Amino acid sequence: MFRRQILKSIGVAGLALATGVSAACAQEVVKVGLILPMTGPSASTGRQIEAGARLWMAQNGSTVAGKKIELIIKDDTGAADQSKRLATELVVNDKVAFLGGFGLTPLALSVGPVATQAKVPAVIMAAGTSTIVASSPYFVRTSFTLPQNTAPMAQWSAANGIKTVVTLVSDYGPGLDSEKAFKAEFEAKGGKVLESLRAPLMNPEFAAFLQKAKDLKPDALFLFVPSGQGASLMKQVGERELAKSGIKIIGTGDVTDDDQLNGMGDALIGMITSHNYSAAHDSPENKAYVAAFLKANNNMRPNFMSVGGFDGMAAIYKALEKTKGDTDGTKLVEAMKGLAWVSPRGPMSIDPATRDVTQNVYVREVKKVDGQLYNVEFATIANVKGSN
Ligand code: PHB
Repeated sequence: MFRRQILKSIGVAGLALATGVSAACAQEVVKVGLILPMTGPSASTGRQIEAGARLWMAQNGSTVAGKKIELIIKDDTGAADQSKRLATELVVNDKVAFLGGFGLTPLALSVGPVATQAKVPAVIMAAGTSTIVASSPYFVRTSFTLPQNTAPMAQWSAANGIKTVVTLVSDYGPGLDSEKAFKAEFEAKGGKVLESLRAPLMNPEFAAFLQKAKDLKPDALFLFVPSGQGASLMKQVGERELAKSGIKIIGTGDVTDDDQLNGMGDALIGMITSHNYSAAHDSPENKAYVAAFLKANNNMRPNFMSVGGFDGMAAIYKALEKTKGDTDGTKLVEAMKGLAWVSPRGPMSIDPATRDVTQNVYVREVKKVDGQLYNVEFATIANVKGSN
């Protein structure tokens, strides 16, 4: 009886000691779980974001406010049910303090309820549909929104002699956002959208849509497809000879993505787009970023997704500095509200009212610089809000 009691008390003490020790250890490491498409049609998004996040850590160290940052990368292959399952595993098993990544809108939306329930901040580093951030109080965005990136293209078009436009977008959240923003802004400035065409997101075949656009004879064709699809779209645009028939090709910078642009060919020279990031952005911060990124990634050129990852880690580090290492999720989201810093893309901040990204949007022209194709910025619309 006596012996049993001793054993029991040792057992309880031992257990208390063990949990005490593990809690202390757990406090020292802050885990950041990035859920990204590392394989499948959006793999370039995962590759770029991971490289951006790792570059931030290489340049800023892996300790913040006395805590060691551990990055965990999970491949959702671009499937929303996988994103949700991985988010749950990261929260329950790995006890991550932050979720992040989300390469496409449906993937981000599937993680929202997990972040809300677990009270874990989820940093959107890619997805661009405007409404995503409002769907969970734990979402914060460091990427961009399509209304933000599109409106300047409509303004430029109206101011540069374009009277009629056909829009062609991918048929899901960001495409519909882009279509709507273009039409609203362009028609408010006196232009006319003749037709709004939508191509399927998966395995798109653009030929029939491009023929329809050509037959309508607009002054310009406005395009949006997500990162990774620009090259195949522009190849088909070239084959249909739209530009030769006098139709100006315009779009968001997702189409002239730095990840693919240099392989798209000289036919793109002169194409105008608007976007939040160009590898050719002329600032000391970006020159240093591009040089370090090329060196760390076997000469892969950084695109707009990479800065979503780089700045996503910046937001995470800055939030932890503000909470002095406290990993309470609600406090971390509060700490991210109102953060402002100079990114390789230019000045950016997290709007305290919406948790969405405020940043400059640039109008750019595809040009050959030192033998390579770049989006060369020529106009800046400062401090554009991501959502209202
Ligand atoms: C999105 O799915 O929200 C998305 C993905 C890639 C882009 C833009 C938007 O380039």
